Amino acid sequence: ERTLLITGIGELVTNDATLDATVPIGRSDAGGAVGVLWNAAVLIEGERIAWVGSVQRAPDGADAVVDAGGAAVIPGFVDSHTHLVFGGDRSAEFTARMSGHRYEAGGIRSTVAATRAAGEEVLRTRLHRLVDELRDQGTTTFEVKSGYGLDAATEAISVRLAREVTPEVTFLGAHVVPPEFEGRADEYVDLVCGEMLDACAPHARWIDAFCETGAFTVEQSRRVLEAGSMRGLMPRVHGNQLGAGGGVALAVELSAASVDHCTFLSDADVAALAGSETVATLLPGVEFSTKQPYPDARRLLDAGVTVALASDCNPGSSFTSSMPLMVALAVREMGMTTGEAVWAATAGGARALRRDDIGVIAPGRRADLVVLRGPSHAYLAYRPGVPLIERMWMGGVEHC
Ligand code: NIG
Ligand code: FE
Repeated sequence: ERTLLITGIGELVTNDATLDATVPIGRSDAGGAVGVLWNAAVLIEGERIAWVGSVQRAPDGADAVVDAGGAAVIPGFVDSHTHLVFGGDRSAEFTARMSGHRYEAGGIRSTVAATRAAGEEVLRTRLHRLVDELRDQGTTTFEVKSGYGLDAATEAISVRLAREVTPEVTFLGAHVVPPEFEGRADEYVDLVCGEMLDACAPHARWIDAFCETGAFTVEQSRRVLEAGSMRGLMPRVHGNQLGAGGGVALAVELSAASVDHCTFLSDADVAALAGSETVATLLPGVEFSTKQPYPDARRLLDAGVTVALASDCNPGSSFTSSMPLMVALAVREMGMTTGEAVWAATAGGARALRRDDIGVIAPGRRADLVVLRGPSHAYLAYRPGVPLIERMWMGGVEHC
């Protein structure tokens, strides 16, 4: 297989914790980043990483050599939470919110109407445009949810389109109760667990439910997640976004891979997460766009909870696809160090998707990596709003 040596890496953030034991300069110099090497090189063979080490020991004879010129290199971002299949526009809702209107989950319904009306080709074109946008900002793996169709036909189209762009597809029929089921939420849940799940399960890997006042109760969410599990889908949960509810407890009870939002948490929620395999995925684009208080990442990290960062890219609560922005917000607003934020946006996302082939730069892992336009991972927070992706490889193939 063809080999490529990337040399001249000023700061290599590997997320490989085993390196911290062997590298003499510890974490304090690295802003809390994990497994940092300075003056490093990486050898890629085919779609995998073959070797990682210092420039002086780099193997000779690679088919191609790229000099990073002293730049920082990090694993590609893993965006474990997006809603990229939708029609319509909600900029007016955003504008109203910025002048004082509250965010309500009900806004989702306007996107549902637009998505049903859009037609498959329009949805596909818009989806692909958003995927390009994500990639241009350094995202090498991303999850996509359905949830703006909310009838069997449109949900099936949504998961099929999502499957064209990623293996990480989530069926979110339980996003909100659509208008035609107003006042009949339990009947809608029957549809989600029956005909809709039949149509969507073959294209999905995950099942999700929005467990929140104004969306679905704990009991309804549990029914949906268990029905999905019976069909081989693994659970993840939207919870504790708008208030302290039972979403986190349900996610832990079901050993969900992740519970996402986690903005309002009780001490019991934090303790439950700390004692579980469930990742807390924080979505600070939502707090930015809804003017809610940011989640307290420090509290979760200090309790020993595994934290991921994701964009939640969607037309209502967070219409950004920028993982660098998530890192910047996490550092500025949520008490994370630069290194913790980069870990959460890469290795943390991989954990939230139960993937052990990505999120870490180490031999045997997928060659998904990003050369930053700057000498340190800290630039992601230090230079907010600036394009910082110099070059990127996905599975050993350069993205141009
Ligand atoms: O993750 N929380 C529920 N769903 C989306 C919001 C969707 C919308 O407002 O359209 C979210 O924030
Ligand atoms: Fe979401």
